[in-house]
Amino acid sequence: MQVVKYMFQPHGDDRGQLVALEEYKDIPFRIKRVYYMYDTRADVVRGHHAHKSLEQILICIHGSCKIRLDNGYEKKIVPLEKPYEGVYIANNIWREMFDFSEDAVLMVLASDLYDEGDYIRDYHEFIQIVKEEAPDRVTLI
Ligand code: TYD
Repeated sequence: MQVVKYMFQPHGDDRGQLVALEEYKDIPFRIKRVYYMYDTRADVVRGHHAHKSLEQILICIHGSCKIRLDNGYEKKIVPLEKPYEGVYIANNIWREMFDFSEDAVLMVLASDLYDEGDYIRDYHEFIQIVKEEAPDRVTLI
């Protein structure tokens, strides 16, 4: 599985750093929603879902956390430790967010509004959908 990690350009000077994110320029989709998680307990694993069509970029703008990505065939763990790095998550990718530092703020840029109907919350259903879309691939899990 190819993980697409973005390193955004900080505009730094002697006052500090600033990162600007523009749709279709720094972010490969129209940003229709922004949400963020904070005060997440260190032992908590969030996510546990995939999306039928939503695309997202996750940025840990403060602190750190890890993202487990699973395309139904392979799993990869992506650490997010810098406010200028982000990971792109396409549709049909199962994600879990974990190992949050106490001060972590995980911001999500999303290509669409909140729609519970776009969620795949059952892992077996997710595997079924992925296999239907690429039936010839050998599953590793
Ligand atoms: P949830 O899907 O459990 O978060 P995650 O899977 O990313 O850990 O969402 C937590 C709650 O927030 C749930 O009641 C739905 C609500 N919510 C919104 O109202 N809008 C949103 O954009 C998101 C992501 C969640």
